[in-house]
Amino acid sequence: MSAETSPCSRRRFLLGTAATAAGALIAACAPKSAVEKVAAKDIPVGGGVVVGGYVVTQPEKGKFAAFSNVCPHQNGRITEVRDGVMICPNHGSEFDIATGKVIAGPSRQPAGEAPLSANGTELIVGQK
Ligand code: FES
Repeated sequence: MSAETSPCSRRRFLLGTAATAAGALIAACAPKSAVEKVAAKDIPVGGGVVVGGYVVTQPEKGKFAAFSNVCPHQNGRITEVRDGVMICPNHGSEFDIATGKVIAGPSRQPAGEAPLSANGTELIVGQK
């Protein structure tokens, strides 16, 4: 029996195929860029904008915060910032733009904070 046709080799092949498929799936689901940049002037005071996989907010003039746009409820996407809250339209969860705390469910978990830094007037959000 050759190595290519033995059950062990077949298992290894299937394992390798599953690992490759999982890797491809992870790559397909990963954000295009882990780091996004946005001009501070483009973030409205008392509001925010969705930038790539993040929501960047300015709760008070000159104070900025950043969160993942992945909704902690069922991994929907926070796509809107209105009236001082970040909104996931999937089931209507709302999160505070300053803290990420839940204002309205069904989510019980806050929006996930994201790393935020500044380079002059440019904001840099995400992993470096
Ligand atoms: S996935 Fe966001 S509210 Fe359900």
